[in-house]
Amino acid sequence: ASTLGAQAAQSGRYFGTAVAAGKLGDGTYTTILDREFNSVTPENEMKWDTIERSRGSFNFGPADQIVNRATARGQRVRGHTLVWHSQLPSWVSSITDANTLRSVMNNHITTVMNHYKGKVFAWDVVNEAFADGGSGQHRPSVFQNLLGDGFIEEAFRSARAADAGAKLCYNDYNIEDWNAAKTQGVYRMVRDFKARGVPIDCVGFQAHFGTGGPPAGFQTTLSNFAALGVDVQITELDIAQAPTTAYTNSVRACMNVARCTGITVWGIRDSDSWRAGENPLLFDRNGAKKPAYNAALTAMGGT
Ligand code: G3I
Repeated sequence: ASTLGAQAAQSGRYFGTAVAAGKLGDGTYTTILDREFNSVTPENEMKWDTIERSRGSFNFGPADQIVNRATARGQRVRGHTLVWHSQLPSWVSSITDANTLRSVMNNHITTVMNHYKGKVFAWDVVNEAFADGGSGQHRPSVFQNLLGDGFIEEAFRSARAADAGAKLCYNDYNIEDWNAAKTQGVYRMVRDFKARGVPIDCVGFQAHFGTGGPPAGFQTTLSNFAALGVDVQITELDIAQAPTTAYTNSVRACMNVARCTGITVWGIRDSDSWRAGENPLLFDRNGAKKPAYNAALTAMGGT
């Protein structure tokens, strides 16, 4: 096929992008979005500081714009993200009582998932809970500090109870290198969850890379996690200066692992990127395809 999503679909996969509601009025942006991608992830609109800005007050409007537009076009939707230490309103991060936080977290998960039930095929239930460096332990956060290591399991159990039809994912960055302590920490958690029947269906590898692209062992990492009995997904791919080899290697790593169910790039044009100055994406600021676009398409067998 001659487009990213259509080519990915030929192997039962998706090729998606992060989407910003504020750009849906930009014709260049939406033309590429609808031509190239068969999955979308709201870039910011489902984060806690947008969707439950004050306790019990839910604002689904911005995310609904993205979700309703995508479902109308047959594009899948990844929900991002239910429990994250960042973009957290101060009314949550300032909670000091464990049972209050537990109730607030479970209500947030349940309310948001109920609203999008049947429209979101995979949720980043918990995002970036592991610390960088170190020995694979969790990072400090209000969730970790008050609820302990078990908060991740609690979040996944609440999510399964809210929407049994959605894939429940753990999502993180810097877990692409098999030898990294952080990767091993996440691997041990997923292995433990599967052993104890804690509901988890997939692991998201954000894949925010420097110019060198993925670590040599990236495919091994994907394969080893998949062997635990979960899907793996590349969830936020962008690569500094968008080298063709690095994009080829990233896409091939997924294509070579059966349970790698899809790839999402973290934005459409370089100018849409959170790291715009590094020109990390597949389309330039004018919406023209870059060499990295052809590398990604070719790596999936497209022309
Ligand atoms: O919406 C407000 C706007 O009202 C305000 O005027 C403006 C200036 O303060 O800020 C706007 O919010 C910004 C938001 O993006 C929407 O543009 C926030 O400041 C800014 O921090 C936020 O950055 C996002 C970042 O996550 C933090 O949430 C990036 O767009 C987004 O690409 C980035 O994505 C994250 C993933 O969610 C998780 N993995 C890492 C990835 C990159 O950091």
